[in-house]
Amino acid sequence: MKNVVLTLAALTLLTTAQARTWAEIKQSGTIKIATEGAFPPFNVMKGKEPSGFEVELANALAKQLGLKVQWVIQPFDNLLIGLGQDRYDFVIASHGITPERQKAVDFTNPHYCTGGAVVTKPGGPMNAAALKGKTVAVQVGTTYLENVRKVPGVKDVKTFPKDTDAQAALMAGRVDAWVGDKFTGLDLVKAQKGKVVQGSLLFNEKIGMAVKKGNASLVKELNAALAKAMSDGTYAKLSGKYFGTDVRCK
Ligand code: ARG
Repeated sequence: MKNVVLTLAALTLLTTAQARTWAEIKQSGTIKIATEGAFPPFNVMKGKEPSGFEVELANALAKQLGLKVQWVIQPFDNLLIGLGQDRYDFVIASHGITPERQKAVDFTNPHYCTGGAVVTKPGGPMNAAALKGKTVAVQVGTTYLENVRKVPGVKDVKTFPKDTDAQAALMAGRVDAWVGDKFTGLDLVKAQKGKVVQGSLLFNEKIGMAVKKGNASLVKELNAALAKAMSDGTYAKLSGKYFGTDVRCK
């Protein structure tokens, strides 16, 4: 993990090209937004189009800012690196705001609050203590991996390129538990009708949008658009649609 983080920070510093400032984006009329498109219900592909809570939220923010949107779909593990390479203007892909990531990128104010939860088959490990001696599946490059590594005595952590693959490993009985987002976990429990259960939260996190380090003008505009969406009912409506509750940080 340490190496990965260092590489990310180094890449950002080595890049000489400048991120597009707010003025440049505004003038072009189009903002380029990157996501993974494989993390339901936050960002998923619906045919060729990205959709989900974060996609609809970002589209609403862009509209608010008077911009068209060009979506870029990337594997989760590449998303923050691409910011350093100026491949898009910002990333919305459920990134927890962590000190490690803040070395490489800048974050907006959080667009939702959540936690990492243990999900298992009935009778399986339901909390950190019970993970002792167990095998756990997580998506690579995530805060789930970082936090499961901190749990003492876990036998093996298996990483998967996609979160949905980590879930599939649990369903196939290849691991004892999957650690993932608590809302994603609730959806899995519902979809699998009693075949899996959600245990305790291992940690809480604030999720934000990421821009290239130093792109303060863009962070300012995104924060303003997010605040507007949160006060004018846009956010509450979207959150209700996807979660049946308001997921903003309180
Ligand atoms: N919230 C977790 C993190 O910060 C997982 C994010 C996964 N996002 C995704 N699009 N697969 O690492």
